[in-house]
Amino acid sequence: MSTKFVIATLGLLLVRSSSGQQCNTRSFQRLCVTDGNNVVLENERLSMTINKARGQISALYYNSRVDTNIRSTNLLRGGSGYYIAVIGVDGNRVITGPDVGEMKITQNDDIIDLAFINKNTSNWPIHFEFHLVLEKNSSMFYYYSIHKYQREGYTAGQLRWAIRANEDPFKYYSVDGKRAGPMPTAQAINSAQSVQDATYMFPDGSVYTKYQQISANEDINTVFGIYGDRIGLSLLQTHKEWVSGGPFKQSLTTHHGQMLLFCEHTGHYGTPELAPTEGWSKVYGPIGLYLNDGQSLSEMYTDAQRQLSDEEKKWPYKFVTAPEYNAQGRGSVSGVLNVDGSPNKEWVYLILTEPHVDDPQLETATYMYSAIADQNGQFTIPAVRPGTYKLQVIAKGVVGKYIQNNINVQGNRNNNLGTINWRQESHGKLLWQIGVPDRNSAEFKSPRGFPSPIPNLEEYRKFGTWLRYSIEFPNDPDYTVGVSDPAKDWCYFMPMIKTPGFPAQLGLVNVTQNARATNWKVRFNYTGSTQGNATLTLGIAARVRAGIRAVINGQEILKLDSFDGPQADSALFRHAAHAIFRQQTVTFSQSLLSDNNLLEFTPPGPVSRNHLDRMIMWDFLRMEVSN
Ligand SMILES: *[C@@H]1O[C@H](CO)[C@@H](O)[C@H](O)[C@H]1NC(C)=O
Ligand SMILES: *[C@@H]1O[C@H](CO)[C@@H](O)[C@H](O)[C@H]1NC(C)=O
Ligand SMILES: *[C@@H]1O[C@H](CO)[C@@H](O)[C@H](O)[C@H]1NC(C)=O
Ligand SMILES: *[C@@H]1O[C@H](CO)[C@@H](O)[C@H](O)[C@H]1NC(C)=O
Ligand SMILES: *[C@@H]1O[C@H](CO)[C@@H](O)[C@H](O)[C@H]1NC(C)=O
Repeated sequence: MSTKFVIATLGLLLVRSSSGQQCNTRSFQRLCVTDGNNVVLENERLSMTINKARGQISALYYNSRVDTNIRSTNLLRGGSGYYIAVIGVDGNRVITGPDVGEMKITQNDDIIDLAFINKNTSNWPIHFEFHLVLEKNSSMFYYYSIHKYQREGYTAGQLRWAIRANEDPFKYYSVDGKRAGPMPTAQAINSAQSVQDATYMFPDGSVYTKYQQISANEDINTVFGIYGDRIGLSLLQTHKEWVSGGPFKQSLTTHHGQMLLFCEHTGHYGTPELAPTEGWSKVYGPIGLYLNDGQSLSEMYTDAQRQLSDEEKKWPYKFVTAPEYNAQGRGSVSGVLNVDGSPNKEWVYLILTEPHVDDPQLETATYMYSAIADQNGQFTIPAVRPGTYKLQVIAKGVVGKYIQNNINVQGNRNNNLGTINWRQESHGKLLWQIGVPDRNSAEFKSPRGFPSPIPNLEEYRKFGTWLRYSIEFPNDPDYTVGVSDPAKDWCYFMPMIKTPGFPAQLGLVNVTQNARATNWKVRFNYTGSTQGNATLTLGIAARVRAGIRAVINGQEILKLDSFDGPQADSALFRHAAHAIFRQQTVTFSQSLLSDNNLLEFTPPGPVSRNHLDRMIMWDFLRMEVSN
C-alpha cells in the first residue's frame, strides 16, 4: 500500500466520523477537534485551546450548570497547561520543554486522543510525546506521556506537567481534603520576607512554603486540586506504577501561583536522577484532570474522590494504544502475607519490581506495582505487565524487608502466590524499642515550628522546627526506657550541632549559634545474662550528610561517617517526616551491659559551624540480647 493511499484513507475516515467535525468553539455541542496553529478540543462539558507549536493549553472553559459566568471564563487566563523539564545533557543543566513538530489525531465517535510529539531533539535528546484525551460528554480530560531513550548523556532531574491557573476563580486548593483552604495570594507572597528558598514569612509571623503541600504516594495523593467558589479542577492519579522512588515517594501537588502539578519524575527527597539506557521507554500516567462544580470546596473534593473510584475500574485505560502501556495484556498477582504466622496488624506494602531493583527508593527507570494487604493479609497487585518480578514487602512494626524472587506474571491471568510467611528479623530477646518501624519519624516529638496559613499541618510540616531544637532540648534528649515517652522525650531528628539552622534563621527565634556536638542519651536497666551478643538496630528515616557514633557505657560500638545512598534528602528542611530510609545493625558483646546502662549517640567525628544543616531523622531504635 502506498503512503498516499494510507493518507487518503485516513482523511476519509476523518471526514466520515461524526466527531471529526470542526468545533464551533465553546458551543459545547459535541465531541470535536479543530486542527490549526491553535488546536481546539471540545465536548459537551469543556473546551480547550492548545498552542500546537509549544504544546501548551492556553484556554480552558467549563460548561458549568451551576454558574453561567464560568462558561465564558478562560480558567487558565494569564496561565497555561505546560511541560517543564530540568535535564542534563552531557553534564550541562538545561531547562526545556517540548518543541512540537507533529500532532497526531486519533479519534472515533467516543474519544479523541491528541498526541504532541517533540521534534527538536538537539535541545531535549529524548523521544517525548504527550497526549491529551477527551471522551464525549465527560468533564474530565486525560494526560499521559511517553518517553523513549534517544542517546547517551541524557539525564533528568525534574519532569513535570503543570497547570498554572488564575487567582480568579481558583482561590483555593486541597492537598488531601484536610490540608485545604485559601491559596496564599501573589500579593501576599510578593510582600513577604524570604526566610529560605521558596519559603515566605508574612507580617503576622506565619510562614508558608510550597513543601507544606507535598504528599506521599503511599496513600493520600490520589486526588488534589485547585478550586473556586463554584468550580473545581482536580488531578486524579488512578494508579502510580510510573512513580520514581516507589510508593513512599513524596511529591508536590498544588502551590501558590495557582499551580497544579503532575510530577512525572522529581529529585525531591533524595530520589536519584533518571538516567535512561538504550532501549528504555516509560509511560507516565494517564492522569485525569477533572472539572466539576458544587457549592463548596469539600463538596467538589468529595465528588472528585468519587470520580477517582470510577477511574480505578477503568485502569489500565483501553484508550492508550501504545504497546509500552500494554492495556490489554496485563496480569495480576495475589496471595496472603503473614508475619510470623498471622496477618500483620498494621499496614503491609507489597511492591513488584524488576528483578535487578534492590531498593525501590532509588529506582527511577522502571515500573513498580504496589498494593496494600487487607486485615486478613490478602492482597492483589492488579494490572501488571507480563514479565518476571521481584516481590518486596515492607510493613509497619516489622523490621527489615521480605523479598521473593522469580514472580512470573502472565497476561490476562492471576498468579496466586498462596500464603507467604515472613519471618521477622530477630536477634534474640527484645530489651526495648523506641519508635515504631514504619520509615517515618512522625511519632516522635517535634519542636514547635512557625504557624502556617495551611490548616491542619502536622508540626513537622511547619517551617523552622529545627530552629527551636535547642530551646526544646537544651541538654539533648535524655531518655529513660520504661519512663520516658517517645512522643515527648525523643526528638524526631538528631542534629549534629546544638543549634541547627543558619544564623539568620536562628535570629528569628533569638537563638545564638552554638556549634558544640550533640550528645543524646538512652538509659536502661538490665539484669540478664552477660554471655552472648547484644544487637542494636537503628532505623534512619532521612538524613543530610550525617553519620552517627554509638557508645555504650563508655565503649564505642558504632562509628559511621555516613550512610550509603543519597547523602542529602533534605526531608527536615522540606517539611517531611521521612525520605530515604536506611537500617543499621550493630552487634556487641553482652558483657558490655550492666545493671544500669548508658547508651549515647553523638556525631561520628568533630563538628563545626559548617555542620549547621547536618542531621539524621529517626524511624526506630531497638535493643535485643541473644540470651
Ligand atoms: C533546536 O533547538 C536548538 C537550541 O534551542 C536551536 O539552536 C535549534 O535551532 C533548534 N532546531 C530546530 C530544527 O528548531
Ligand atoms: C451527558 O452526561 C450527563 C450526566 O453527566 C447526562 O445527564 C446527559 O444526558 C448526557 N448527555 C448526552 C448528550 O449524552
Ligand atoms: C533502674 O534501676 C534503678 C536502680 O538501680 C531504679 O531506681 C529504677 O527504677 C530502675 N528503672 C526501671 C525503669 O526499672
Ligand atoms: C527576640 O528578642 C527581641 C528583643 O529582645 C524581642 O523583641 C522579640 O520578641 C524576641 N523574639 C522572639 C521570637 O522571642
Ligand atoms: C558475637 O559476635 C562476634 C563478633 O561479631 C562473633 O564472632 C561471635 O560469634 C558472636 N557470638 C555469639 C554467641 O553470637
